[in-house]
Amino acid sequence: MSRQLWNKGFQPDEMIERFTVGQDRELDLRLARYDVQGSLAHIRMLCSIGLLTQEELDLLVPALEDILADIEKGEFVIEDGVEDVHSQVEFLLTNRLGDVGKKIHSGRSRNDQVLVDLKLFFRDELVTISNAVQSLFDRLISLSEEHKDKLMPGYTHLQVAMPSSLGLWFGAYAESLTDDMQLLVAAYNIANQNPLGSAAGYGSSFPLDREMTTELLGFANPHYNVVAAQMSRGKTERAVAVAVAAIAATLGHLAMDVCMWMCNNFAFVSFPDELTTGSSIMPHKKNPDVFEIMRGKCNRLQALPNELALLTANLPLGYNRDLQLMKDIVFPATTELIDCLQMATYMLGEIRVKDNILDDPRYDYIFTVEDVNRLVLEGMPFRDAYRTVGMAVQEGRYKPTRSVNHTHLGSIGNPANEQITAKMERLRQHLR
Ligand code: ARG
Repeated sequence: MSRQLWNKGFQPDEMIERFTVGQDRELDLRLARYDVQGSLAHIRMLCSIGLLTQEELDLLVPALEDILADIEKGEFVIEDGVEDVHSQVEFLLTNRLGDVGKKIHSGRSRNDQVLVDLKLFFRDELVTISNAVQSLFDRLISLSEEHKDKLMPGYTHLQVAMPSSLGLWFGAYAESLTDDMQLLVAAYNIANQNPLGSAAGYGSSFPLDREMTTELLGFANPHYNVVAAQMSRGKTERAVAVAVAAIAATLGHLAMDVCMWMCNNFAFVSFPDELTTGSSIMPHKKNPDVFEIMRGKCNRLQALPNELALLTANLPLGYNRDLQLMKDIVFPATTELIDCLQMATYMLGEIRVKDNILDDPRYDYIFTVEDVNRLVLEGMPFRDAYRTVGMAVQEGRYKPTRSVNHTHLGSIGNPANEQITAKMERLRQHLR
């Protein structure tokens, strides 16, 4: 038996219901607590404008708080035949309180209700992501400090190029995460605006106090124009997607480096046996499957902005049911990203780093620029010094002096980890 808020006396077709409800009964569980928070703010506002009496409010608030407690305990379900979380909460209220439960939807539509749920959800989810980014950042900075003095080859065109260090390598990903944090902050600011009161998308003839719900829900400001508020469904998700994809790009790149540095031909890093995986035929194998899965997942996550753009391309203005499908795409994606971030942090906690990598003669040419610069400091013009060292290489006479002396800001000898940490700290302030 299906129960719809919009029931007008006929039973909808079951096939139609299954098709249109889709994954909402599961996915909406993630919105449940926010749905109740939104309703609590809405009914307080309705009371302030005389659409609910104080007595009614005093019945509704504890009943909603009970539902919230069930949600926190994991005891809330969206029953078969109930379309979504918004319907379930209203049915529960009406079952418990009778007619007063039916009053809470004045001046509201499920369109602004799901929007407010999503905004509150994304705010929290972005904070969770930023915490996971911060943990990985902290690990990378501490590895950078720990391995500051360990040199490794730097590559261009995947050919041996110039001296680098493990400190620079770890620190590079830390600083790269600060760029991603900028996008997280931007997505957070876009999400942190109140759509409640836009109702179906065109406002209401009730004198809704939108400033009041904005304050009750802790939003930075209302999304003022009711049509713009509805347009933010989709726009908010795309902003979140851009941030998710950026982090995934950074993490996927890191995962690729680790796979490569674990390759026996490089062997710059390794992990304890229990963090590697084996082969069913080759008894010697210790494979980097964790980082391969991470790389694959992160590559898929980078499709997120495109998936959303295609889903929402050329939709007519105002609510359209297509928008529901964004939940199917975005909810698993943020979970996946958090999982990858936590796994990276966990794995890097156990990473082992090879000492004296540059003693291997295959990296001798790493030092050519160092030797050119030494000649320059001794007074030789750069182009002559370049030619001198170049001829030695060409004729097989080149012998590296193996001294590396990089001191400028952001270089091997001065990776600026303090400045990078301060930059991250400043960005994170915006998410608290
Ligand atoms: N499940 C719907 C969604 O996510 C809720 C809003 C339904 N609104 C409507 N007009 N059918 O979009």
